[in-house]
Amino acid sequence: MSLARTRDVPSVPNDLQSYWIPFTPNRAFKKAPRLIARAKGMHYYTTDGRAVLDGTAGLWCCNAGHNRDPIVAAIQAQAAELDYAPAFQFAHPKAFELASRIAALAPGSLDHVFFCNSGSEAVDTALKIALAYHNVRGQGGRTRLIGRERGYNGVGFGGISVGGIVNNRKHFGSLLAGVDHLPHTYNREKQAFTRGEPEWGAHLADELDRIVALHDASTIAAVIVEPMAGSTGVLPPPKGYLERLRAICDKHGILLIFDEVITGFGRMGYAFAAERYGVEPDMITFAKGVTSGAVPMAGVIARKSVYDAFMNGPEHVIELFHGYTYSAHPLACAAGLATLELYREEGLFERAKALEPKWADAAMSLKGLPNVLDIRPIGLVAGIDLASKPDAVGRRATEAMEKAFGDAGLMIRVTGETIALSPPLIVSEQEIGEIFDKLGKVLRTLN
Ligand SMILES: Cc1ncc(COP(=O)(O)O)c(C=O)c1O
Repeated sequence: MSLARTRDVPSVPNDLQSYWIPFTPNRAFKKAPRLIARAKGMHYYTTDGRAVLDGTAGLWCCNAGHNRDPIVAAIQAQAAELDYAPAFQFAHPKAFELASRIAALAPGSLDHVFFCNSGSEAVDTALKIALAYHNVRGQGGRTRLIGRERGYNGVGFGGISVGGIVNNRKHFGSLLAGVDHLPHTYNREKQAFTRGEPEWGAHLADELDRIVALHDASTIAAVIVEPMAGSTGVLPPPKGYLERLRAICDKHGILLIFDEVITGFGRMGYAFAAERYGVEPDMITFAKGVTSGAVPMAGVIARKSVYDAFMNGPEHVIELFHGYTYSAHPLACAAGLATLELYREEGLFERAKALEPKWADAAMSLKGLPNVLDIRPIGLVAGIDLASKPDAVGRRATEAMEKAFGDAGLMIRVTGETIALSPPLIVSEQEIGEIFDKLGKVLRTLN
């Protein structure tokens, strides 16, 4: 017997058992798998050849649509030219080119880009930069991080510590020490069926002042929020809320981080949500849309003053002891450059902005359907809350997802009892109609 072969080769090569699927009920899935074989434009195709209209841009990432020719060609060419270059002490030209392109899209003085490979890494990177920033400026006492209830900032220990989703936190020990949370901004009584930013809720930013009064500003490094909380069920920011948060951070010398992993690259009708709201954070995290989901890539965009704070001391010494083997991977950079070019050529951010009123109208057409408690359209995103079945929270939305995929040929995303929609930005008006038509039919069949 060969030493190398310690296990029997499975007799069924496509056995579903070995793959431990993330954020998925594995046993239920493996009994009735939803398998996707290929994609093009606005559609997925299942392994048995059915077309499924993509209402979610994959997982909020395929903003340019699927398998777009220029992105595919750029990845193919890059794979043949340079597979990998060391990310530390060496670099390759496309990393600089992509950083410059992203910096040009970012607002104001946010002009330095640190690359990583996932939104979770981007969040942990931004939190570490914030801590180190205060440290190198002689304010090492600023160690406290402030997140927000119902925030989703990925699944690293930093991200789940500042994040505010109980199931993502409760099994994982004591998390980071010294973290506080702002209250979330959703109130159904005050905000139900609002298009875009709700009128009620800006005052919730003042809770930051309360937290500062409790701990003192000299202990607080940074505040991190999603400008629009996506994964927790689509919570648009109340009018004036982000401006107020910025002002309070400024007053106390606290860094403000926008987690734009979902809202970046056109989802809100602008390159970044920071631009939509006219609020300039100190750092922006991005991922997903930067390569339209084609190759994993993410990063942190930092203000010049944040970068400059590190550029002291002897020039031969590493300024920030942080990075990943695959930071600025050549395939990801090639995909990113082709994706940004496609966004520009096709005006996809502007397209999303122009479509927003029609998208909102179509979403609101589901008002009055059985079990629909709230609808929240914003940018090219919509959250639809369903009433829960007694003792089975989340079951009704899951049934909607299963029926949409199986019967209606529509991909939707569910989180708790909320359906979240976020189509590729190439979606046509006719396809917007199709998405809500199909979803309406599904909702009418739910019991
Ligand atoms: C706001 C936000 N931050 C971070 C993440 C984590 O990204 P990833 O799954 O790439 O680690 C997500 C993922 O949806 C997100 O929505």
